[in-house]
Amino acid sequence: MAELRLDVGSGPLRTEHERLLRTALRRGDTDPEGALADGALAGTYSDRARALARNTWRARMVHEHQSAAVFARLLPQLMAAAATLEHKTTVLRMAMDELRHASLCAGVVTLLGGEPVAETELATQPLPDHPDAPPLEACLRNVMFVGCLSETVSIALLTEERELTTEPVIRRVVEQLAADEVLHAKLGWSFLAATWPTLDFEGRERTERYLPVAFRHLRAKMHEAMPLGAPIGPELKRELEALGVMTSEEGRELFAATVDAVIVPRLVDHGLTTAPDAWAVAEAAPVLPSAR
Ligand SMILES: [Fe+2]
Ligand SMILES: [Fe+2]
Repeated sequence: MAELRLDVGSGPLRTEHERLLRTALRRGDTDPEGALADGALAGTYSDRARALARNTWRARMVHEHQSAAVFARLLPQLMAAAATLEHKTTVLRMAMDELRHASLCAGVVTLLGGEPVAETELATQPLPDHPDAPPLEACLRNVMFVGCLSETVSIALLTEERELTTEPVIRRVVEQLAADEVLHAKLGWSFLAATWPTLDFEGRERTERYLPVAFRHLRAKMHEAMPLGAPIGPELKRELEALGVMTSEEGRELFAATVDAVIVPRLVDHGLTTAPDAWAVAEAAPVLPSAR
């Protein structure tokens, strides 16, 4: 374990980092960094609400930072899979988005009166290499897991949180995160649409056999990120929602509803007709202790 910090250094690359935020990573007219720099909390909150919200935003900071490594690791897999160039460029943009998200989450921790530092493992895990699959299918499985499953769930959670968040600066941050995750999910769905028709029967069967594994890992990962703690009363719930934090119970419900209503039907539309069974198998299985 070590300390994760998201400080920007003062060396010669700082200007380029700032230029990237203003240009390549910009989305519309939102400037969440500017809002955080000028901002203070508009409302007043209990110590408990601020402490719980800080913990959640600090955990998000760690998670977003790790996501940058996931997208960066997809590049060599896309290269091995002979993916077209736009997949390779956008996946690197997504890695940069995630670094930015980590820094925005750190900014919210500061806004909430906390130190934007987390004790965590700094080394990240490699992506599964799926030795039973040729490079294109191995890549498809990981791109599907990240884009069609994980990021599609993130859109649902962040869209709901965007509606609930009333604290103006935090709302700007949630809006940025939600807008970027739309692109991240699109990577999965567009790569699936481009790749599925090119797979032969065996390739499609192998890919579908991976689905229960993927859903089970997704569920473990989501439940790990939304631990159930002591029950939260209505006033604390309202405070947390204002600060961009949904309760774990509602998050878990929204997660399951998104898989049921969005992800499974979309996978079926793309040709993965066993997706409903795969999700049913994963939902019936005991939750794995860890996503890894
Ligand atoms: Fe993110
Ligand atoms: Fe993302």
